[in-house]
Parts: sequence; structure tokens; C-alpha cells
Amino acid sequence: MCGIVGYVGRKENALHVLIEGLKTLEYRGYDSAGVAYLDKNNINIIKEKGKIVNLENKLNLDTKSSLGIGHTRWATHGEPNEINSHPHKVGKITIVHNGIIENYEELKNILKQSGYTFKSETDTEIACALIDKLYSEKNDIIKVLDKCADLLRGSYALGILIDDDLNTLYAIRKDSPLIVALGDNENYIASDVPAILKYTNKYILLENNEVAKLTNNNVTVFKNGKIINKDINTFEWNVEAAMKNGYDHFMLKEIHEQPKVIYDTVSTFFNNGIDSLIEKMPDFKKYNKIHIVACGSAYHTGLTGKSLIERYADIPVDVEIASEYRYKKLFLDEKSLVIIISQSGETADSIAALRIANDNNIDTLAIVNVVGSSIAREAKYVLYTKAGCEIAVATTKAYSAQVAMLALIAFNIAYTKGFISNSNEFMNELNNLVNKMNHLLDNIDEYLEVAKEIYQVEHVFFLGRGIDYSLAMEGSLKLKEISYIHSEAYAAGELKHGTISLIEKDTPVIAIVTDEKIAEKTISNIKEVKARGAKVILITTEKLNKVGDYYDYKLVVPNTYILVQSLLTILPLQIIAYEVAKLRGCDIDKPRNLAKSVTVE
Ligand code: AGP
Repeated sequence: MCGIVGYVGRKENALHVLIEGLKTLEYRGYDSAGVAYLDKNNINIIKEKGKIVNLENKLNLDTKSSLGIGHTRWATHGEPNEINSHPHKVGKITIVHNGIIENYEELKNILKQSGYTFKSETDTEIACALIDKLYSEKNDIIKVLDKCADLLRGSYALGILIDDDLNTLYAIRKDSPLIVALGDNENYIASDVPAILKYTNKYILLENNEVAKLTNNNVTVFKNGKIINKDINTFEWNVEAAMKNGYDHFMLKEIHEQPKVIYDTVSTFFNNGIDSLIEKMPDFKKYNKIHIVACGSAYHTGLTGKSLIERYADIPVDVEIASEYRYKKLFLDEKSLVIIISQSGETADSIAALRIANDNNIDTLAIVNVVGSSIAREAKYVLYTKAGCEIAVATTKAYSAQVAMLALIAFNIAYTKGFISNSNEFMNELNNLVNKMNHLLDNIDEYLEVAKEIYQVEHVFFLGRGIDYSLAMEGSLKLKEISYIHSEAYAAGELKHGTISLIEKDTPVIAIVTDEKIAEKTISNIKEVKARGAKVILITTEKLNKVGDYYDYKLVVPNTYILVQSLLTILPLQIIAYEVAKLRGCDIDKPRNLAKSVTVE
């Protein structure tokens, strides 16, 4: 999604802050970039299609400028080109925008009647014209932006400059992320903290329709035209977390951070044994039905969580894709719990699903990674994963942290229901689990062999049953999104109902067998594809490891506490996807067409 950076400051450092900040937001996905900056007494606007470096080549970064806004655009209205890229200027107003204005056509007709004409195809230019029109009538930007909040429907994070107020940067947001950061004789706005982390870690979270007024030495926040007090937060992540620390890609760094992330996520709940786990989580006893709602990989963690909660905690769980959930009839009541899983906490479809549950007075629990994100703030309960800053678009450590959190929830419910009595076993295994994860990550030669075997194929199949099917889905998504190889995950028992017709000689099939209860069934399905010429890559556990003629490669992972076994099984799937993408020379951290946080519906 789009990225926003804004600057106002005595150090006249605007262009460096804007360009460096936009570069840290590249992971959000974009197809054009632009800046508007004060140069002497004028606002200069420079925009360019494509990568930020194309924009940078049109700028002299050493130009002294005390005020500016920058933007990376992920096209929603109008194709990716210079005209449609931001910033947009209409009359005295210059803005950058992240989000979608849903009633832009209606507003465009009204504005045209007032004599406005439009150069671009964007909803943003229309919002800019609206602000300019209201400002020409009211000449009080705070009142104007409050009025805009009533008139604009949809989502927006806006950075705003005004020709006759060139010492000030304004900002307002609704349902799109935007933070206000406090520096030393300079202040900033940004879509995400890493954009300005090298300058400060002090920031303010704007609530919907609060207006921020920033000058070089002051930040004021308004709500309904009145000044309000806001907490100043300290961002825990440091700049190093946003650097690669010697790895070729953020994704590889984040894969290797998983052992620490799992330890950080789980151990905080056991600082006082099982009592702290029960104390720090919602009381699940009152629920007899759970809906898990999410998108993409977060949806896959929901499927894994379903297997764990249903089998060990004996509560029925429905797992739904957020963009589907919003439009379906819901069978929920006061004994239902809706769990929203989201790394960014800003995924528009997941926010919408959360709001549906809230509107129906259903208890909601958010499992999110970003402190203070929209989903975290709007859910009744929130459990934070401790994955730290995840830059790569393809999630790995946040995915694993979500699975760990769901395992904790299953464990909590099972323990409080008396289905599990020994709480020490889980805690004791935690250290072993981290060591086993590290051992797998330090011994990936077999994974490299598999990657070399499949990196030039057109199609790959993933098979699994039960919890292994949810892992197959995540393994398939990882491969697709970073290597661009088509793949499909199939419930192993389902293949023979049609898709096995696609299996031919040397078709790669990655088969996951870790669940003892259904291992034999899955092995039978594997033999069916092997018999038809498939090249089988088997991922199994030490306990299930046996010699057979139904595989070409066998990757064995150690056994661990059953609730967190999938945290080991996912590692070969992540590494294979990464190595295949690397062999194919793909843009691993920023795959084409993808955004890290999908803040549009
Ligand atoms: C995962 O590799 C993808 N980048 C994507 O599916 C992601 O999981 C999905 O967009 C959900 O994002 P969220 O967790 O921030 O809500």
C-alpha cells in the first residue's frame, strides 16, 4: 500500500528525510513516488513513475528545505503514471494520500459545478480540491479538515501543505495508518515508524479524524476543533531491526529470527508459570464457538489454530477469509468469540470483519504484531505477537508468532478445562523447541537440493491432511508469492477427486506428514501420485521417519511438543521457497504486485 512521509524542521533536512523515509516504506509496495517541498517561498512538486531512485535522480537532495511531504503510490484509482502519482496540488492545497475515497465521483460532480477541473484519474486529487474549496470559504484549515471528515467516505491518511502557511505541516487520518513523530527541532508524519526511526522513536498515534498541526518545534492535535492531549509513545524497535544484519534479504533474516521470536512471544506468558498465562489471556471459559478471521498467511495460521483448538481444547472453530466474512450471514451469539489475526493490524478487510463483530456486540480478540494498530485498538482484547519489525512482504516470523499464540490459546483452554494437567512440559519444551529450530536453520543443505530440483518447473503441488494441510497452504503461498511459480495446496485425500489428472512424470509434489493419527492415510495418497510419476518431496518427523519407495527426497524435522510441532515443519517450506526465489533471481523482499499491508478492500 501507499507510503507517506512528512517533515517540518529548522534543520531544513526535508528532502533527505522524505527520500530516506520513502525507501524504508518500499516494502509496502508501490509503482510511483513523489515529493512536494518548500524551496525558498514555493512548493516544488517532483513526481516519477517506477522506483524511488527514478525520483531521486530528479532531485538535489542537498537543497535546504524546512517543509515537505513524500509519497509512494500503489495504484488504486488510475494507472501508475506521473500524472496520477502524488503529491497532488489544487489551488493552495498540496496533499499526499493513502487509502480510498469511496464517494469521490459524487464529490467530483459537486466540485466541477464550482468550477474545478481535474488532471488526474485519482480520488486523491478530488479530496485535494475539496480541501481547497472549503479552505477558500473558511480560511481555517482545522475547521476545514474537520468538515472533510464529514464529507469524505472511505479511508484516508493525508499529509497536507498550504501555500499561505509554509511553516506548518498538517495531517489527518481515518482507517489508514499514520503516525506523528517528535524530533529535535523537527517533526514528522509517516505511514509507519521505521520511516523516521533513524531520527526519533517518540511518536503519537492519531485516532480517526484527529487533526495534527506540526511546526518545527511544536505538535498540536485537534479533535472537533479543540486541542486534545495525546500520549507520547516510545517505539521499541531500533534501526538495526530495520536493517538486514548481513543477510541477503530481509526475508532470510526474518526466517532466522523465528527461534527468538517464538521464545519472546511464548515466554512472556509464562513468567509466573501457568498462572501468568491464564492471567494474561482473556477468559475463554465462556465461549462455546470461535470464529477466526484473517487474510493470506494470517488465514493459514487460523487454519492451524483451528486444528489445535478443536483437537486439544474441544471448542468448534470456523476459519474465514476476511473479505468473504464481511458479506456472509453470521451465526454468532454472546458465547461466541471472533479472533482477528493480522501482522500489520491495518488490513482493511480484517478491520471490516472486526467492526462487524463489534457492531453485533460479539467479543473480539486481536492477535496482532504492531502495537497500537487499528485492529489492536478496536478489538475488545488484544494479544501482541513479539515478532518485531517485519519488512519482507512475505511473512515468516510474524506467521510463526501467530501460530505460537494460537497454540498458547489452545493450551490455555485445554489446561483450564482439565484436558492437559502438566503445564511444565510445554514450558520445558520451549527451550528445546528454540534449539531444534536453530538446528534446522543451520542445516539446510537438503532444502537447497530440493530448491535446485524445482526452481525451473512451472507447477508445484503441496499435499497434507488436517494441520498438515494448513501448512501445505502456507508453503504454497510462500512459493507463489516470492518465486512466481504456480503452485496449489491440496487436502491429500481430495487429490483423487479431480486434480490428480494434472500429475504427470516429474510433477513436483511436496507432501507433509507429521500427524501420526492420519499418517498412513496421507502416505497412501502420496503413493497414488508417486505411481503416476510425481517427484515427491516428503516432509515428516523423526517419529514417522521410515524407509519407503514413495518419495524422492525426505526432509525430517525433530518431534516437539505437539501443540507447536508446526513451528518446525514450516521451516523447510519457508527455506525452500526462499532458495527457489533466489535461484530465479526474484525480488524476494518486494515481490511484484504485492504490498506488505493491504489497507484497501
Ligand atoms: C503473507 O506472506 C502475505 N504477504 C499476505 O498474505 C499477508 O499475510 C496478508 O495480507 C495479511 O496481512 P496482515 O497479517 O498484516 O493482516
